[in-house]
Amino acid sequence: LGQTVGIAVVGLGYWGPNLLRNFAETPGARVVAGCDARAELLERQRARYPAIRFVSRYEELLTDPEVDAIALATPAATHEAMAEAALRAGKHVLVEKPIATSSAGARRLIEAARVVSRVLMVGHTFEYNPAVLRLREVVQGASFGRPVYAYTTRVNLGQIRDDVNAMWNLAPHDISILLFLFGEPPVAVSANGKAFVRPQQEDVVFVYLEFPSGAVAHVHVSWLDPSKVRRVTVVGERQMAVYDDLDAEAKLRIYDKGVDQQVIPHEGGLYDYALRLRAGDIVCPQIPWKEPLLLECAHFVECVSRGERPRTDGENGLRVTRVLEAAQESLRAQGRRVSV
Ligand SMILES: NC(=O)c1ccc[n+]([C@@H]2O[C@H](COP(=O)([O-])OP(=O)(O)OC[C@H]3O[C@@H](n4cnc5c(N)ncnc54)[C@H](O)[C@@H]3O)[C@@H](O)[C@H]2O)c1
Repeated sequence: LGQTVGIAVVGLGYWGPNLLRNFAETPGARVVAGCDARAELLERQRARYPAIRFVSRYEELLTDPEVDAIALATPAATHEAMAEAALRAGKHVLVEKPIATSSAGARRLIEAARVVSRVLMVGHTFEYNPAVLRLREVVQGASFGRPVYAYTTRVNLGQIRDDVNAMWNLAPHDISILLFLFGEPPVAVSANGKAFVRPQQEDVVFVYLEFPSGAVAHVHVSWLDPSKVRRVTVVGERQMAVYDDLDAEAKLRIYDKGVDQQVIPHEGGLYDYALRLRAGDIVCPQIPWKEPLLLECAHFVECVSRGERPRTDGENGLRVTRVLEAAQESLRAQGRRVSV
């Protein structure tokens, strides 16, 4: 038991119980506590996990020697202050996305983790998703050709938040996926959006990103849509790929489609170019499936046990936050192009 990492999960609303369930199954971890400000949520989890201590006051966890690490699944606006308090108390921290609601906040957390030599990890779940890992292999592989553009759709009816807009709530996933696929952050972004349901809180947002390689991407997020869509399309010079998170059978499709240039020789050494559309096979790779959140929890516990830096560390969280912050500035300026 001395070797296991004592985990406390904070925020037991929609997402926190998933962290609780996965940490309970993670080798090397022991969930010692759960916390939420709402008594009825504590009762619900107490019934499920009688061996775990459930408390309503976060501060109790900070002085508890059994708690080595804190996983935060509270609303975005609370992340920075709660994560900083945990780090200052010498706890390792896994914080849900977005890591903070400003890049200055993300930098403060990186610094706080450095000072106490503790692990700081952000819950960019899709970077642990086997289908996304496979998509990255495809996109960065030789037969795909240079990726030229990508677009993502993450829309549904709700869930409407009151602390952040739809972009800060949903787009952290898309931006983390795009940076992971392209291997670099964008140089500039522009964003447009509109608040239809409540004033000042955009429920529909379109973000356009320009990458140093010349590739571009578009992110569409919305809380105001008839159906749930979670899709990423990447177009390369030779192949194209679609990742559909909701497709149980074929999460990833690779299309051998593209436009080839053909040289047509004429008399006297003259020649023309012709464009030919190529539509070849569609391949659905067999992807060994594991719940991404379980892989994420296991990675966190491994990093804490070995004192290693997580793949989605504070810097990774900061890069995503910088893009969101620039997009927010653009959103307020009716889509003006903003450097990242
Ligand atoms: N990685 C993913 O795929 C994913 C999916 C959903 C949500 N999330 C993230 O998880 C976080 C929570 O989202 P949610 O949908 O579960 O929200 P939620 O509103 O359902 O739950 C948040 C809970 O935190 C509790 N809380 C707030 N402040 C607290 C405090 N100071 N002390 C104790 N408890 C407190 C609230 O009572 C509430 O029960 C958000 O950051 C969200 O972005 C991530």
